[in-house]
Amino acid sequence: MIRMSDSLASLARSSRLASYISMIGIRYLTTRAASSLQEIIKASSYIGRDDEFANDIDWNNLGFGLTPTDYMYIMKCGRDDEFKQGQLNRYGNIELSPSAGVLNYGQGLFEGTKAYRGEDKRLFLFRPQQNAIRMQIGAQRMCMPSPSTEQFVDALKKTVLANRRWIPPPGKGSLYVRPLLIGSGPILGLAPASEYTFLVFASPVGNYFKDGTAPLNLYVEDEFHRSTRGGAGDVKSITNYAPVLKSLSRARNRGFSDVLYLDSVHKRYIEEVSSCNVFILKRNVLSTPATNGTILEGITRNSIIEIARDLAFQVEERPIPVEELLDADEVFCTGTAVGIAPVGSITYKGNRIEYKTSNQLVCLRLYSRLVGIQRGIIEDKMGWMIEID
Ligand code: COI
Repeated sequence: MIRMSDSLASLARSSRLASYISMIGIRYLTTRAASSLQEIIKASSYIGRDDEFANDIDWNNLGFGLTPTDYMYIMKCGRDDEFKQGQLNRYGNIELSPSAGVLNYGQGLFEGTKAYRGEDKRLFLFRPQQNAIRMQIGAQRMCMPSPSTEQFVDALKKTVLANRRWIPPPGKGSLYVRPLLIGSGPILGLAPASEYTFLVFASPVGNYFKDGTAPLNLYVEDEFHRSTRGGAGDVKSITNYAPVLKSLSRARNRGFSDVLYLDSVHKRYIEEVSSCNVFILKRNVLSTPATNGTILEGITRNSIIEIARDLAFQVEERPIPVEELLDADEVFCTGTAVGIAPVGSITYKGNRIEYKTSNQLVCLRLYSRLVGIQRGIIEDKMGWMIEID
């Protein structure tokens, strides 16, 4: 069913959710010089000492730009070794051999999670064990050793605590935490690198999209694909992201928010958006593409599936033909960076489908439940939040 959209701006204004998260995408740039990598700081020496908010930042205008914070975590190990002991360093540039595996052959993974400041000042991470497991699965695919779940979560906690003054006030955003696992050792012939670096840095963030919480206008790409069968589309390999930049830039230049990709075999089934998973709602049935090897198993995706089932929606993970978009009541995107973003329109082969927008959308109800858990406002029955203070 094709619908005309209501005022998108009024949705952004009136949504209760928007009052939590409404921010404009203005990048905050800092001129702080990168500090020496040699300066090793123990996390414990910062706990409780550096509890104020950073003051050289406009908390009301966070977008998804990088704000360099104070510390990053680094841990290294050899190809046939295990990760043992990492440390916090001042945030700054890292030194890599020009022949590092990650630079030459893209041997690298990244993760994304967020730390929140609760209304009661407690600090939380959202499901970091899930990121650890996803990194371990990705590392196997990319022939890399990976940190244990305990090492991973410990590194995230240390990074967040060391940068706690950069965690936005409740309702203003979150501290985005970016773990990286890269082949840092030198290599010339194609093979796994000899050394690996696990690095965690963080940046305060608000809304991912430049139009804040306004519904997205997606473009269905029918020339390029994000992922292929037998490829690495189901793991968070860095190599999945640069190839979408061309479609993404082209779509953004035409005024679209992001790109929705189709499967590369039939060119018919919807798969993923450049930076997030996708869901469609029809009556009480919520559907999302099944994670069959070409789709990233998003942690927000999985959390929304659980919340929706808890709220008595029927959830289906299955192949979704692009034609089903015509008949959907709602379409929305989910991701760590994106949160939940309602879709206002989708353009496919020159035809634009528009979806209703209001503050009564089911996806906003699901999001409000998720945000409530993340902020400590709604009881965390699933045990998703890890308190880190
Ligand atoms: C995330 O949602 O954390 C991602 O990794 C997506 C990225 C393109 C920002």
